[in-house]
Amino acid sequence: MIKSLFNAVSISFFLVLSSFSLASEKAIIDPSARFHPLVSDRGMVVSQEMLASQVGADILARGGNAVDAAVATGFALAVTLPRAGNLGGGGFMLVHLAAENKTVAIDYREMAPASASRDMFLDAEGDVDNKKARYSMQSSGVPGTVAGLLHALDSYGTMSLKQVLQPAIELAANGFKVSMDLSSSLQARQQTMHKNPASKEYFYKADGAGYEYGETLVQKHLAATLQRIAKKGRSGFYQGKTAQLIVAEMQRSGGLISHKDLTSYRVIERTPVCGDYRGNSVCAMPPPSSGGVHMLQMLNILEGWDLASLGHNSAAYIHRLVESMRRAYADRSSYLGDPDYFPVPVAELTDKQYATELREQINLAKSSRSADIRPGLDNRSAGKESTETTHFSTWDRWGNVVSNTYTLNFSYGSGISVTGAGFLLNNEMDDFSAKPGSPNGYGLVGGIANAIEPGKRPLSSMTPTIVFDKSGAPILATGSPGGSTIITIVMQMLLNIIDFDMNVAEATAAPRIHHQWLPDRVFYEAGVSADTLQVLREMGHQLNDKTSRLGATQSIQSDSDGAMFYGTADYRREGSGVAIPIK
Ligand code: GLY
Repeated sequence: MIKSLFNAVSISFFLVLSSFSLASEKAIIDPSARFHPLVSDRGMVVSQEMLASQVGADILARGGNAVDAAVATGFALAVTLPRAGNLGGGGFMLVHLAAENKTVAIDYREMAPASASRDMFLDAEGDVDNKKARYSMQSSGVPGTVAGLLHALDSYGTMSLKQVLQPAIELAANGFKVSMDLSSSLQARQQTMHKNPASKEYFYKADGAGYEYGETLVQKHLAATLQRIAKKGRSGFYQGKTAQLIVAEMQRSGGLISHKDLTSYRVIERTPVCGDYRGNSVCAMPPPSSGGVHMLQMLNILEGWDLASLGHNSAAYIHRLVESMRRAYADRSSYLGDPDYFPVPVAELTDKQYATELREQINLAKSSRSADIRPGLDNRSAGKESTETTHFSTWDRWGNVVSNTYTLNFSYGSGISVTGAGFLLNNEMDDFSAKPGSPNGYGLVGGIANAIEPGKRPLSSMTPTIVFDKSGAPILATGSPGGSTIITIVMQMLLNIIDFDMNVAEATAAPRIHHQWLPDRVFYEAGVSADTLQVLREMGHQLNDKTSRLGATQSIQSDSDGAMFYGTADYRREGSGVAIPIK
């Protein structure tokens, strides 16, 4: 089947396998995508939006490496996936460099403006004003995406900024056909977006109506902003006209970001947090992401059981997952924050002995109650909002790998665009703990570790991950959107592949579950059997109503010798695509 696909597209530049049924001369749709990964020996790009995947594969085809492809894909997503792809947000990129056998974690998370303060989202009664935290000009942290992507390109790429930005500029300037997914997500967000005149102008037609499937969306102001970046690099965004437009927008509407905040924005290279799971080395994002730390903590707890013998998604298996998740998320509420402001106990939380202690507390026959579980180191001496982060993975034929997750926080961020600059602002300030114990948009609670402070980065759950086998060769790049659920989704991808021997497509398709301590609920997707759910109820678990979907992983798997790549775009959200350079 794969061979015939290659033959079928030999006259076109890419092979794109997508979960979105759009026919184009560059796309081939395989309805079996859900169970078979796409295979390539020339590298691969997997993202939530097929045009952006094509952009990345084009860069690989022209001899670019995985970082060049990732940066081009990241900028293209800012045009074609405006709900999550972004210039006005931030994120994390894990880069594995084959020649140096080194993996770096690039932190380009948003920073709180210098004039931000701990209680800035509290009202006169001392309660959190959620509207202010999520949908006001003050909900935006200083964007890090442009600095982050440029840093990656300067440090580890091989192509010029102009080369990697050109496709995004063309998509914005000439327009692209609106997909079903973009059309419906813009309809869903219409009420919020129409409150902001710039967003209404940029993402809706002149009469305010939404774009229909197949209509062309042109983004002239965004194209001009991208041109300024192409011409001037970092100062094309953090200084000059773009910076003036951002600051003017802030000053018009009570925002906090100043010119000094923009010029002071800094990308930080961190050491990934890595741990051993059944002989594999799992490397993921360290704080200010909670993802890597808590995924390793949960894997350490789960490693003590023979999960394969329990059967995938059996009640016994889900019970162990839920109890591990409950304890990890309890710890998250107390111990995680920006490591430059709070001493995050990474070593303690990822310690195998600590995991053993937590495992021993778990009753294998009965659910515990979250009210009885406290953050564990002390004893020792999913909300309504949509969760529209996005992940992409790139892999080149030299063995370099990129696993990148970035976000505006909610779908379309705060819904506020920068007038004249064409892009949306994040509402990442809501990822801080505005008041101890008060839940954020994902129902997550926190305390002093994640309190608002000037210059601090809000705690994240984004979990870009690269897994290495016993020989040290990279074998998997994955990650997901999903707010608080990201960590457990990525972990289940790893468990499906490592414990249950699934291929990357099967691992993606398998139904997912989630628990985050508070609220004390098990979230689950369709496909967990009714009798399994009944057994879980009898064990004392409180089940939420069925969740329509948990996350959207975009993953690439490889053989140990790095000769073949297997990619799967998650079918849970339309529009995603795997693209291969075939020239
Ligand atoms: N904004 C979601 C996260 O970073 O976890």
